[in-house]
Amino acid sequence: MNRSILLGTVAAFCLFAGCQKPGGADGAIVVGEFASLTGKEATFGMSSHEGTQLAVEQINAEGGVLGRPIKLVTEDNQSKAGESATVVSKMISRDGAVAILGEVASSRSLEGAPICQENRVPMISPASTNPKVTRIGNYIFRVCFIDPFQGTVMANFATQKLKLRRVAVLTDVKSDYSKGLAKFFEQSFAESGGEVCARLDFNGGDKDFKAQLTTIKGSNPEAVFLPGYYTDTALICRQAKEVGLEVPFLGGDGWESEELVKIGKEAMEGHYFSTHYTPEAGSPKGAKFVEDYKKRYSGKTPDTMAALGFDSALVLVEAIRQAGTTEGSAVREKLAQIKDFEGATGRTTINGDRDATKSAVVMQIKGGKFQYVDTVKPQSKAP
Ligand code: PHE
Repeated sequence: MNRSILLGTVAAFCLFAGCQKPGGADGAIVVGEFASLTGKEATFGMSSHEGTQLAVEQINAEGGVLGRPIKLVTEDNQSKAGESATVVSKMISRDGAVAILGEVASSRSLEGAPICQENRVPMISPASTNPKVTRIGNYIFRVCFIDPFQGTVMANFATQKLKLRRVAVLTDVKSDYSKGLAKFFEQSFAESGGEVCARLDFNGGDKDFKAQLTTIKGSNPEAVFLPGYYTDTALICRQAKEVGLEVPFLGGDGWESEELVKIGKEAMEGHYFSTHYTPEAGSPKGAKFVEDYKKRYSGKTPDTMAALGFDSALVLVEAIRQAGTTEGSAVREKLAQIKDFEGATGRTTINGDRDATKSAVVMQIKGGKFQYVDTVKPQSKAP
């Protein structure tokens, strides 16, 4: 379905169903969430969903917001392209969602955001870092940093901490996230005197990367920057060993999943990636979140997406509380003014671009575990 037909359908349905006055039958405030609960990036969606769900349960246990409970409606896009606009439309038209939470992957947030913008329904992405996401319009927010910062963090880490000068870059051309992060990394790496000795592409979901890896090996790099998602990244790192490419790999938040080491095994040892959060670098509120999450999800330690999902729900509820209504434009106004809001990932401030200004952490894979290496504050360019 093309976008204008889709939007027309939403509008017609709203008129018919009277969803100008949204709300659940029981007086609940309906919040929609779209996530990759199954498929190639299932851990992204499952984690963000669990974090979001925990926040909603806690808010409801304390009486909800504006004296009403929150009803979370969740739709699975199966990690596929071309699903998110449809499920977001459904949640707005069929369920009367007053706000939308999601997605983790930038390409899928970019599919859902135009629907929210056209319907004046605020959307908060927990973890999409591509700058284009919030540029869709003034109803689109995120509670995480963006990739010009993340790219700089890893470029500076490469030149200053690892003293690298020659790096190859391997990009997933199917992913807005990967293309953006590769570009921002390259810019910063060049600015700090580094040289990109090879630039290769792949398509997320491919199984054989040996041709690219052989070319990369021939360019004699000191490291490879690979802004991929965890499944592709793990397979690529395994095949790198098979072609005898024995240099460190560096990546971004898309690596973060327990599946990375399950699939990649020893081939992941020693590699580095940047991300948003680690339970180890926590604030008091962060520590309470870790404890509550473990209790709720049979001892499981929360990852970045879980913590950001939790914070996205809290930030939304704070804006609704301050607005005193669930009306989209009023909630949007309050979201734009969120300052120093304390959540699981530390303090969130929404800046003038509707992005969050926040620190990044660098992790290293050691003994099959993610070890905390460093925190990089947003003001300081250098790690
Ligand atoms: N930042 C990634 C994107 O924009 C998604 C992601 C966030 C993945 C956090 C893992 C952890 O696509």
